[in-house]
Parts: sequence; structure tokens; C-alpha cells
Amino acid sequence: MSLDDLYRRVIMDHYQRPRNRGRIEDNAVTIDMNNPTCGDRISLQLRVEDGKIEEAKFLGEGCSISQASASMMTEAIKGLSLEEALRLADLFSAMMQGEEVDTEQFPLEDIEALQGVAKFPARIKCATLAWKALEKGVKQPH
Ligand code: FES
Repeated sequence: MSLDDLYRRVIMDHYQRPRNRGRIEDNAVTIDMNNPTCGDRISLQLRVEDGKIEEAKFLGEGCSISQASASMMTEAIKGLSLEEALRLADLFSAMMQGEEVDTEQFPLEDIEALQGVAKFPARIKCATLAWKALEKGVKQPH
């Protein structure tokens, strides 16, 4: 299997079996974000305690890349401090700009599967939708 095929499989797996899809009952910050180019939406919720992300969930409708990215992102940020989550968002943004990033820094290797998206400028907004919501959420008061 080629690396591209493997990445495609990982993306489809997150799309078809999204992790952390749903709502958080209490004490969550909610961030709604949409991709203006297609109208797809994501609603991200974060529950932060003592500066640490205890829980992250999302709901949304959109293409496989946007939903898989949200699934991977919510999985990766659980247990991180807000600063660490922001650093991860910066790393992901650099990856989407085609920069060489040390993918070992990603706590979830699945995120690597999205690196090929950088070659398709029209899809970058799909992959970054959930991460933009995260950046906004981290900066809100908790
Ligand atoms: Fe809308 Fe991908 S086509 S987020």
C-alpha cells in the first residue's frame, strides 16, 4: 500500500467513525465556525480545568477532510494545556502551508495523514476549520 493510500484510509476512518462527536453536558466553551467557501460548519466544545483541556467534542457537517480533521484534533488535544494546544495548532498551520514540520511532535500520529492536503490549496480551509475553532476557543475565558 502506498503512503497516500494509507493516509486516505486513516482520513476515511476518522470520517466514518468520528472520535469525540457529540456534546459536553456542562462547563464547556462552545465555538461555532464555518468555512465561508462552502458553508460547512463545525461546533467545537472544550471543557477546561486548571488550564488543561479535559474534554473536547464536536458536531458538524462537512466534507471528509473537515470532519476527519476535527476528529483527529479533538483526540490529540485531550489532556494538553491551553499553551500546548495552541502550539499544536501552530504546528498544524505550518504543515498546511507546506512547511517541513517535525511530525513526532503531534501526540496523535493520525494527524500526519492530513499533510498531503497542503498540496491542494482549495482543501486547506477544510482541514484547518476545526483548528481555527480551537485557536478561538483557547483564547476565550475559561
Ligand atoms: Fe466544506 Fe471541506 S468542502 S469544509
